[in-house]
Amino acid sequence: MKISVVGTGYVGLVTGTCLAEVGMEVTCVDVNKEKIEGLKKGIMPIYEPGLEEMVIRNYRRERLMFTTNLAESIDGAEVVFIAVGTPPGEDGSADLKYVLAVADEIGRTMKNYLVVVTKSTVPVGTAKKVKKTVADALAARGVDIPFDVASNPEFLKEGAAIDDFMRPDRIVVGTESDRAQEMLARLYKPFTLNGHPVIFMDIPSAEMTKYAANAMLATRISFMNDIANLCELAGADVNMVRKGIGSDPRIGSKFLYSGIGYGGSCFPKDVKALIKTGKELGYELRILEAVEEVNEIQKERMFEKIMRHFKGDIKGRRFAIWGLSFKPNTDDMREAPSLVIIDKLLKQGAQVIAYDPVAMNEAKKHYLGDTIEYAKDEYDALADADALILVTEWTVFRAPSFKVIKKLLKEPVIFDGRNIYDRRELRAMGFTYYGVGVV
Ligand code: UDX
Repeated sequence: MKISVVGTGYVGLVTGTCLAEVGMEVTCVDVNKEKIEGLKKGIMPIYEPGLEEMVIRNYRRERLMFTTNLAESIDGAEVVFIAVGTPPGEDGSADLKYVLAVADEIGRTMKNYLVVVTKSTVPVGTAKKVKKTVADALAARGVDIPFDVASNPEFLKEGAAIDDFMRPDRIVVGTESDRAQEMLARLYKPFTLNGHPVIFMDIPSAEMTKYAANAMLATRISFMNDIANLCELAGADVNMVRKGIGSDPRIGSKFLYSGIGYGGSCFPKDVKALIKTGKELGYELRILEAVEEVNEIQKERMFEKIMRHFKGDIKGRRFAIWGLSFKPNTDDMREAPSLVIIDKLLKQGAQVIAYDPVAMNEAKKHYLGDTIEYAKDEYDALADADALILVTEWTVFRAPSFKVIKKLLKEPVIFDGRNIYDRRELRAMGFTYYGVGVV
């Protein structure tokens, strides 16, 4: 099959590359020339484990092409994916200007039947707008070329995106014609060999599924953070509570980890967007409003513990931060809890030295000049620091030498934002330990 994928961001690049990997002929399109030239040379615009090798391999085999020319990419193609960004507008809604600009260009240049698939996370009703935009552009040309629209939300997790695409739990596809459905069934057949289904449905339901999935996951996290905060007051241990409730199959054990709040490019944006959709349709999503509020508060709670420990004055104190990205295995800093904690420390006159295995370059875009220092490895960050703050649970931070940590820190104090350390062991070694949802 010949496929065009527009947008070489996270979703587009992973989608295009994985489709090429199973043997399809894929052209990835982007308006950014530099990105396209870089990709041809094997330079990835994002960090994702396994992606670089797969891109290079398929590019060499000429199954994966890169271009800035959208018209050329859809000439003879059967399916075009729109996977461009939908940045949050000021009011929290997804900005569709890029999606609709692509739809317009498709309409202006297409020569043959196409299934136009929205892959970006877009509000309910977007496929309809895409359809109208393509149809208007065709009408302006005075031609009548048949096409269909479809909605195919992605469920990729950063850091595990390739695996999620190659072995999906499920694929959700919204269509309104048999022709489009058959085409997408054929396209996804190689990915359903593990027995996991393509779930076909109507377009609005597919669009809603994506938001409902992310909103549910965000809700689990905020719920657990709320319970964790209560555990601290009640003298309970949220880790035990998590195990206790997670063994009920109706609840399940995944996604119940309390911490310093969720971040990333999806949960914060999607929760906001769904609340907004609710408002537009005259409905208030009360649970999600609380989910968001709890998350904002959670990002600040560790900072408050730090302030309490240092009796309200951290001016001139030095803090070592382990982990900057919003989660491990990515360099993504979008909505990362580290940003909130570091900003608050800096505002109080503290110094910050950070180490992250891959996100330091991304962080430099946020912290200009020498607002914070960067360490060359995790131990290098600790020298003369007043405390260690574990923000992102990268595997390299999981089993460090606490003897060395104790020697390097001015005071043996650890703020563990992800509950990855054994507080009893640390306290026995003489550390002052703060976790989340434990006392
Ligand atoms: C998420 C969804 O999982 C994915 O299906 C969707 O397509 C995009 O959004 P992603 O943002 O890559 O993926 O990250 P994910 O691994 O889901 O983590 C999101 C956030 O939740 C992170 O900040 C993580 O630290 C936090 N989290 C996750 C918790 O705080 N506790 C948990 O138990 C799980």
